[in-house]
Amino acid sequence: MPNPTEHVAALAPYQLADLQLAPGVEPIMLAQNESLRGPSPMVAKAILKVANCGRLYPDPHCHELAALLRQVHALPVQGRVLVGAGSMELIGVLIRAYAGPGDEVLTSEFAYGYFAVATSIAGAEYVQATEYRYTPDVDALLAKVTDKTKIVIAVNPGNPTGTAIANDGIRRLRDALPKDTLLIVDEAYGEFTDAWQEPVFDLVGRGDCVVLRTLSKAYGLAAMRVGWGYFPDAVAQTMDKLLNPSRISMISQKAAIAAVLDQDYMLATVSQTLAIGKEFKQAMVDAGLTVADSHTNFVLLKLADTTQAEMLEVALRRHGYLVRPMRAALSDCIRITIGEQLVMQQLAELIADLEPKLRAKKRPSE
Ligand SMILES: Cc1ncc(COP(=O)(O)O)c(C=O)c1O
Repeated sequence: MPNPTEHVAALAPYQLADLQLAPGVEPIMLAQNESLRGPSPMVAKAILKVANCGRLYPDPHCHELAALLRQVHALPVQGRVLVGAGSMELIGVLIRAYAGPGDEVLTSEFAYGYFAVATSIAGAEYVQATEYRYTPDVDALLAKVTDKTKIVIAVNPGNPTGTAIANDGIRRLRDALPKDTLLIVDEAYGEFTDAWQEPVFDLVGRGDCVVLRTLSKAYGLAAMRVGWGYFPDAVAQTMDKLLNPSRISMISQKAAIAAVLDQDYMLATVSQTLAIGKEFKQAMVDAGLTVADSHTNFVLLKLADTTQAEMLEVALRRHGYLVRPMRAALSDCIRITIGEQLVMQQLAELIADLEPKLRAKKRPSE
């Protein structure tokens, strides 16, 4: 039987959400931070227009989409937009390109789980700095920098916490890092803070910083797999060597262009999500529960302990609500994506009803 390399054999695959339900139970998808509503109606029209486009390969550089993103975000001249099959692809390729065995990739304690997987694929060491109140701490990150630190990743706002730091902190971090350390600012949820945060795309001009975004969240386009980033030219040229040239299908490119053109629709999704999220957080606080200060389309709910969190997740699953259980230092939490208003109101009532009952109940083995 053929064997993979020793390094690959030892890897653990990225853990996606468990979407299994008992037969006949209708799923209510709140486990993967997907948008509470689909993309702009213009997306379906754009897809229909290119339904017969199958003969030719797609534009490998996504010129039209890249130009549109440059215009919408008023990107500075110095730098290049690169599009990936989700920002996940860009994260994986960046880490492989800039870190290898003997190098360190540094991020904060509760950072997005895929960074660890991508770092182990690259054979590099994953280092985490403690967070303060579920929020990345710039000084704690800087204290962990060594001469092996090749990449620092700041997720702002964070996943799974949803907390955000002011972009001043990102700028201070970049200024204090060694010039040959690449800073990746992952802004997968950036559209949810754009109203109060000035962008950091200008940092790309320094040559040592990449800013990543995605159309999977605020634009409601997770199914199309379109992420993008603003890259220094030299970093983009390195990425070109590793990325599959025809990675974004023509349908995904056209869908993304239509979604980005409809800014009003995206902004309405963002404000609707934040309003429903605020109501849900308040309902949880009223029920005596603790929630992290989320600036995204999900909420991290803290339970009394790990057992309590596990029992609540299982109980919600029985009712069809698929939420995300957390591991390690966050195993006393569950992460809940913000869905439609009625769904969230019913979920809040269910949690307020279930939680005290579960707390009173012991597991059979206890
Ligand atoms: C912080 C963060 N970065 C990146 C991604 C990847 O998103 P996508 O590959 O859909 O663009 C996610 C997805 O949940 C995320 O939460």
